[in-house]
Amino acid sequence: MTIREAVIRAIRERQGQWVSGEALSQGLNVSRTTIWKQIKMLQSEGYAIESSPKKGYRLSIFPDILSPEEVKGGLQTSAFGQEHYFYFREIDSTNNYAKQLAAEGYAEGTLVVAEKQSAGRGRRGRQWHSEPGQGIFMSLILRPKLPVKELSRITMFIAVAIVETLNGVGIKSGIKWPNDVLVNGRKIAGILTEAVTDMDGIEYIVTGIGLNVNTLIKDFPEEFRSIATSVQEEAGCVFPRVELLQALLLHLEKHYQKLIAGGFNEILEKVRNLSLVIGHDIKIDSVNGISNGRAIDIDNNGFLMVRDAMGNIHHVMSGEILFKPNKKTVK
Ligand code: BTN
Repeated sequence: MTIREAVIRAIRERQGQWVSGEALSQGLNVSRTTIWKQIKMLQSEGYAIESSPKKGYRLSIFPDILSPEEVKGGLQTSAFGQEHYFYFREIDSTNNYAKQLAAEGYAEGTLVVAEKQSAGRGRRGRQWHSEPGQGIFMSLILRPKLPVKELSRITMFIAVAIVETLNGVGIKSGIKWPNDVLVNGRKIAGILTEAVTDMDGIEYIVTGIGLNVNTLIKDFPEEFRSIATSVQEEAGCVFPRVELLQALLLHLEKHYQKLIAGGFNEILEKVRNLSLVIGHDIKIDSVNGISNGRAIDIDNNGFLMVRDAMGNIHHVMSGEILFKPNKKTVK
């Protein structure tokens, strides 16, 4: 255990009570200056630690920060976020950092979490709004032994895990193929899956998730205010991000294990039931340009099946659906 972890543990154990610098320094066998420096650091990170020259230190409330010390305590996964958990107060993009780690050989389940991203990325070169303390901005390294054509399955299982996490806090959401999670027609979460492949298949995948938790609609940039929402907006109260991240990681791991064990059909069935696009006439922007048709199903690889006006069926691997899904289609 690092000194930082030991200090956090010691003040957490006595939450609401004063503990002297002397007692901490003796208990942890470090100097009082070391304790003082650690406390200063934790305060700067958002820990509400009071300090008094006479009484010492006191943690008044548990902070809602996504540091490993806060998240790992109640984390029930076996691998995701366990061995390697990288935490940043600020970073350009968690996906960028996770890709570097993956290239260095970091194992499946390695997690990168940030409170704020200065250059959070969405699909198609878009920016992802990532203000401190408002959302979950995370990237996970995966190394599935899947053929490249099954890559879309990854985004599918992640979307299902996000929907189930939101269900757990009473928020009903649906999936706008391929990577958006919507509540009442507004986006609450997005997925950015980036893969490195070779002749043998997938070398690694970095999957980034952005979940709007405590952002108020008025705090989104102007262009997102009519299309975005957050857990707080939907639930009507501030939400502890720590609990949400713990639940999300557990759902992710459960569905990933299912996928790897050959259980994609179950995931696909869920995606079909949660889909906000199947049965709709859509306009889709894909590698083949913009086309129109009716979304009729999602195939076994996770491709969207679109029937054109001539009755031909196209299996679309990736693209952007250009329509506002009907609110009533959330199941
Ligand atoms: C989208 O909807 O276009 C995908 C958004 C993905 C955003 C997340 S936030 C964490 C991770 N790091 C990034 O730079 N992007 C993803």
